[in-house]
Amino acid sequence: MRSRPLVTIVGSGRVGTACALFLMMRGICDIRLIDVVQGLPQGEALDISHAASILGIDVNVEGSNDLKDVEGSDVVVITAGFARKPGMTREELAIENGKIVRDICEKVREHARDCIVIVVTNPVDIMTSVAIRTLGFPREKVIGFSGILDSGRYRYLIAKKLNISFRSVEAYVIGQHGEKMIPLISNCRVCGLPVTKVLSREELDEIRTRVIKAGEEIIKLKGWSASHAVGAGVSELVEDILKDRRKLENVSVMLRGEYGVDNVVAEVLAVVGGEGVIKVVELEMSDEERKAFQEAVEWIRELTKKVLSSLGIA
Ligand code: LAC
Repeated sequence: MRSRPLVTIVGSGRVGTACALFLMMRGICDIRLIDVVQGLPQGEALDISHAASILGIDVNVEGSNDLKDVEGSDVVVITAGFARKPGMTREELAIENGKIVRDICEKVREHARDCIVIVVTNPVDIMTSVAIRTLGFPREKVIGFSGILDSGRYRYLIAKKLNISFRSVEAYVIGQHGEKMIPLISNCRVCGLPVTKVLSREELDEIRTRVIKAGEEIIKLKGWSASHAVGAGVSELVEDILKDRRKLENVSVMLRGEYGVDNVVAEVLAVVGGEGVIKVVELEMSDEERKAFQEAVEWIRELTKKVLSSLGIA
């Protein structure tokens, strides 16, 4: 009998490995890494297992090259795909990564029908639609990751500017994980106060730009995409699910009427627990933010349509 929940991470590159490492450190589940590259998931699993031994964290971490091994998973995290290279947009990745996500989801549908799927592969809002379409799962069980990353970056910049704890900042990002994301000002609070009481319009504009460009900034600096913050965020989301925490999270969800939008995946706020997405929370926002959100949604809708039809799953 398996004593701990099982989380399978498909893709053992930097992002998948960071997810596995942060998850191991939480000690809440066994972890399986899957990748097409022979030896890579096994090697990463062994390395992480040694780390677990050093820390005294009793979880099993194993590697596999066979997608059939998603079987028995409570949560499947999809990180496989091509990474953005310097100068490349998330959107240019859409078609190529769409094929990869579709192929993985076909196997998940076949071997792990009851799991919850977290999609990390970019462009995440579109890949989440590809996953939902291929899996045929209800929208509650397919969650796009990245809002946690975006709002984490937003909180970081505000907290650093004011030299206060990250925990005293409440900040959300909605819309698209990309150029059209909207770091919300109307809902942003610092120590219980509206952010506009403690930061000037200019300071907020500067922070907004840095949040939107944060992924690019990291690629330029270290030469490849962010991974540690992704691992931290995914592990938080997995714990919400495995512990049925029912916590408010910034995630990408298929909208079904919320904000007047139907059938498009966008970054929003939602309560996440054991069943996956329990409720999409519709925030109050300014007219300007609402307009920007609608623009982001239309942009996602158009690109999703192109990708789904090129994959033959429109
Ligand atoms: C980023 C990538 C993960 O925002 O999309 O860094």
